[in-house]
Amino acid sequence: MSKHVAVLMGGWSVEREVSLVSGHAVAVALKDRGWSVTEIDVDRDIATVLPGIAPDLVFNALHGRWGEDGCIQGLCELLKIPYTHSGVLASAAAMNKGVARRLFTAAGITCPDGQVVSREAAIAGHAMPLPFVVKPLNEGSSVGVRIVMGEGDLAQLKDAEALGDRVLVEQFIPGREVTVAVMGDRALGVLEITPAGNFYDYEAKYTAGKSIHVLPAPINATVYDEAMGLALRAHQALGCRGVTRADLRYDDTSGEPGNLYMLEINTQPGLTPMSLVPEIAAFSGTDFADLVEWMVEDAGCDR
Ligand SMILES: Nc1ncnc2c1ncn2[C@@H]1O[C@H](COP(=O)(O)OP(=O)(O)O)[C@@H](O)[C@H]1O
Ligand SMILES: [Mg+2]
Repeated sequence: MSKHVAVLMGGWSVEREVSLVSGHAVAVALKDRGWSVTEIDVDRDIATVLPGIAPDLVFNALHGRWGEDGCIQGLCELLKIPYTHSGVLASAAAMNKGVARRLFTAAGITCPDGQVVSREAAIAGHAMPLPFVVKPLNEGSSVGVRIVMGEGDLAQLKDAEALGDRVLVEQFIPGREVTVAVMGDRALGVLEITPAGNFYDYEAKYTAGKSIHVLPAPINATVYDEAMGLALRAHQALGCRGVTRADLRYDDTSGEPGNLYMLEINTQPGLTPMSLVPEIAAFSGTDFADLVEWMVEDAGCDR
């Protein structure tokens, strides 16, 4: 009899809709490959729902808070159900941008200058010289991220509820944006993203045509390799497992080769048809169903 995989999706984070698309794509791929699959739209009662289903494995297709920050991982640990992607500690560390950047820096990975301050201090504009970027500590999908190019932009921080009380203020890195997929112990490729608007915001991420992906990233070959190495090192520095995606800025404004800066590691990267990891994996020779099956097997579930 085929093993039973519960695909957790949805949830109640701001990335709910994206997760539903990721989860459904995963479920279809696994069913096609002969796995027995139950799709679960996760709600606050998941701790009682999951033991009733008693799957052999949880495929975690949640994004954002509760699904990406160690909470659902902790529940799976308690229930002794193997699960895909990173464990409790790596998930929690990666999700908190203040904690993650300390671990990256300790591992010799350069991040933009930055500090965690109160939202009031960020609004006052004295946290660091302009231009800077203000981000919530534990959201994803660019939710709440504000780019402050000049004094006039500070006003938009006032009503930014998504920011929370403590925020990360980070030096704005001009130039380009690249992202790297990591699968286990190897980086798969570097993709350059060019958003249609002024930065890679929620709309650019999830609306067809709102950003251009170029793969392999048309950057200096040494920098390309460096980006691959940094992504793998960041994955390892946080103790991640399975698949992750590293977001980096590439400042080539003084010419190539320029400088790379680590922004973050995503421990639950998107798995929608438009998502970056499936695109990079396909480029490296792993199609979507192979990628999803690899994640299931890497999490300790054989057929
Ligand atoms: N220091 C920075 N300099 C320039 N752009 C940034 C910087 N930090 C974030 N951004 C922009 O905001 C986007 C989202 O930031 P990121 O740190 O990846 O958080 P998340 O994707 O979790 O919301 C990035 O993809 C990039 O376009
Ligand atoms: Mg990001």
